[in-house]
Amino acid sequence: MGNHILEISDESLELFLEKIFETYGKDFRKYGKAHLKRRFRHRMAFAKYANFEEMQEDVIKNESSFNSLFEDLSINVTELFRDPLFYESLHQFLIQEPDKKPLKIWISACASGEEAYSVLMMLEHFDIPYESILATDFNPIIVEKASKGILETTYIKEFLKNLGATNFNLDFYKFFDFKNDKYYLKEEFLKKITFETHNLMYEHEFGNFDLILCRNVLIYFEKDLQNQVINNLTMSLNKEGILCLGAKESLRFMDSYPMYRTIHQNHKIYQKK
Ligand SMILES: C[S@@+](CC[C@H](N)C(=O)[O-])C[C@H]1O[C@@H](n2cnc3c(N)ncnc32)[C@H](O)[C@@H]1O
Repeated sequence: MGNHILEISDESLELFLEKIFETYGKDFRKYGKAHLKRRFRHRMAFAKYANFEEMQEDVIKNESSFNSLFEDLSINVTELFRDPLFYESLHQFLIQEPDKKPLKIWISACASGEEAYSVLMMLEHFDIPYESILATDFNPIIVEKASKGILETTYIKEFLKNLGATNFNLDFYKFFDFKNDKYYLKEEFLKKITFETHNLMYEHEFGNFDLILCRNVLIYFEKDLQNQVINNLTMSLNKEGILCLGAKESLRFMDSYPMYRTIHQNHKIYQKK
């Protein structure tokens, strides 16, 4: 397939995003154009569409084709203890004030759940009191998967490497059972996490949190959507609550930046003043 066939103009991209929103109510209009084009090209090649027009027609007519495209757009890549040193820094900060009230935690854009499991493992291992852990993502299929507490065996080596790269000395097998070729987060831990579908684009509808993780999702948004999301998260945080972003993300140029102090610049840990 010649590359020219995969060309997508900004104008046809915008029209397609409008049609998707009208037809399915899913709003990608403020996602980064370069990211969307990459994903659309990937989909076109994978599903062997002759050109962008053919893909648009199929996606608007057939919900199942839209669903496949949606899965492609949502990029559910994640890891257990992704960026191990981030977890060390977060832990260091959390133990500074040992008499704090139990934490209310929100792991947003949690993908298949590994980030929520990691936070839970860290809190349990160090006996850091917490009241609740809410894990959300806008993709209902991935939330369903996350709620099962399963780790794919394919990634276990990588996950154990991440865990080993922390100074936590944490026993993986205290948390996971191995059955039917898969690792399962033990029920006693899994039941401590609540999983829900939630779109970061819209107003928060949850209570006041002490710790929010929103990692590796803002990178897919245009600047004004990033601002809107950060504003929503800021409203959801208690005074002195902690906000954690992904390694390639920053509060630095966001409207809400003056409302935070930076706890760790490299690991993108911020505290609401
Ligand atoms: C690359 S993953 C990041 C997972 C995890 N936070 C981490 O850092 O490993 C991005 C996740 O953001 C979710 N996502 C994308 N747009 C979203 C939105 N508007 N609201 C909530 N989640 C969204 C995707 O479904 C995907 O699971």
